[in-house]
Amino acid sequence: MASKVPPDLAIVELGSFKGKSTSYLARGKASVFAIDQWDSVSGNPIYNDSKTFKEFLEITKGLNVTPLKGNTSEISKVWTRPIGLLFIDAGHGFDDVSQDYRSWSPFVRGFIAFHDYDPKCQDLKFNGVYKVVETILKPSGLWTDYEIVGSIFTARRK
Ligand SMILES: C[S@@+](CC[C@H](N)C(=O)[O-])C[C@H]1O[C@@H](n2cnc3c(N)ncnc32)[C@H](O)[C@@H]1O
Repeated sequence: MASKVPPDLAIVELGSFKGKSTSYLARGKASVFAIDQWDSVSGNPIYNDSKTFKEFLEITKGLNVTPLKGNTSEISKVWTRPIGLLFIDAGHGFDDVSQDYRSWSPFVRGFIAFHDYDPKCQDLKFNGVYKVVETILKPSGLWTDYEIVGSIFTARRK
């Protein structure tokens, strides 16, 4: 999907951790902006220790990737560029995912993708993805071409 994004549109990843998914997104021609708090104090200590950002920089070295360190909501307030592919994989609770969707989806001109779309998930910390897709994205009428590949849900802006 990253290869379908034209170079004049950005790819934005919310939640990059050590950069594994980021490096796949960077296989296309579009510039990738990787957003993560990379911070064990204000961020989730499960995902972040002092080495995490260093590992991210090593994995994405030489790729067309710009890291933007901070909270996804805060960065959306200063973001201005059209987005060809938005990959949402930051906080997975309903409030986190709905906030990320509402803040970032207005910039999307191409595709939106959510990691961890799981209809069977009962854990309130992780079931936000399925709920946001089913109760906010689909009823909005703004999206088409729904696809599920493994645990990733994708749609295209109409
Ligand atoms: C599941 S991991 C991302 C995994 C990565 N996409 C991959 O597949 O390799 C979630 C990441 O989101 C970050 N995160 C969660 N909520 C965030 C927020 N509100 N702002 C910025 N980063 C956030 C965490 O720091 C963590 O690194």
